[in-house]
Amino acid sequence: MRALNRFNRKAVFHSLKVSLAATAVSLFLCTSCSKAKNSKSISGDSEPAKVESFQKNMPFAFGAAVNINLLKSNTSYRELVIKEYSSLTAENAMKFGALHPAEKTYNWSDADYLVQFASDNNKRVHGHTLIWYKSLPTWVMDFQGDSEAWEQLFKNHIQAVVSRFRGRVVSWDVVNEALEDNGTLRNSIWLQKLGPNYIARAFQYAHEADPNALLFYNDYGHEYSSVKRAAIINLVNGLKNAGVPIHGIGLQMHTRYNQTDANLNAAITDASQTGLKVHISELDIAVNPDNNPSLTFSALLEEQQAEKYFFIVKTFNALPANQKFGITTWNVSDADTWITGHYKRPDWPLPFDKNYKRKACYQAIIDAVK
Ligand code: XIL
Repeated sequence: MRALNRFNRKAVFHSLKVSLAATAVSLFLCTSCSKAKNSKSISGDSEPAKVESFQKNMPFAFGAAVNINLLKSNTSYRELVIKEYSSLTAENAMKFGALHPAEKTYNWSDADYLVQFASDNNKRVHGHTLIWYKSLPTWVMDFQGDSEAWEQLFKNHIQAVVSRFRGRVVSWDVVNEALEDNGTLRNSIWLQKLGPNYIARAFQYAHEADPNALLFYNDYGHEYSSVKRAAIINLVNGLKNAGVPIHGIGLQMHTRYNQTDANLNAAITDASQTGLKVHISELDIAVNPDNNPSLTFSALLEEQQAEKYFFIVKTFNALPANQKFGITTWNVSDADTWITGHYKRPDWPLPFDKNYKRKACYQAIIDAVK
């Protein structure tokens, strides 16, 4: 099937504009696709059947990290989110600094907005993130107290946040990025103040606050560093074997169009061998990893990116059904990707372009689960 997709996509790329190519492929494929249903063709419109949305076509939860300001103010963005995704993660609104800006002050407004939006539109919410070394408010960085006071701060934060959303946020990234690329524990403020068992205790505190929530350890680098991958798997297995309530492993997967399939496969299959649920939690596929300031998004790059999305989604879809927690892209479109701001370079890492139109990788994601 993929050989056919690929042949067809390549043929049209040479003669048509890139934006038309994905549509042409989808139209061709979906004439024989029993899954695709299109009310337009049923109602007599001559347009052939085509893919409806990620939400309708993907056999597992497919989500995006969303920006609350855009959700409130940009109608195209909001409508696209409503149409396409079955799961939402707050890009920033549930981080420590956003929720808990002063010791006795919680700011729930954006997180509440997201949870209500998700409930109104029948979407799952994945919580990101309780304990991270970034996005910490100055009151935490400057906090003076003995180890007991630090433990209280840590426990209070986790339990206040998890309790607030009990039953409405189904899962949490309890600890994010606790490891360095060389496999050692990151020398974060949490490690310094609480010692290495802070990770296990974070899960225990979260579990006490919502015994039904699915709890994840989330990190990056599984696909580019076998050392880090082994350290993550070791950490997660250690928690599991010690009886710590951990239910899933989050692979951020901020990856690039030229990452090898072997590395991507190792990342996904090694994670699944823990027996835990697997969440590809922050997927994006950069096409400008070398920071070329004058790069343009060519048809070739679009095709290579689509091939990589295809491989990742196909590999994920082959996991046992009860381990497929879902795939979440980090942001929605090339207009709102964090990469351009964070790395200060042009890039086009997401399934929707700057005008919220579907790119070639959109169709590749759908094709990967056929
Ligand atoms: C990023 C957001 O996208 C940015 O808006 C923010 O300025 C910094 O954080 N890994 C994570 C995410 O776990 O929380 C990060 O999100 C991206 C990398």
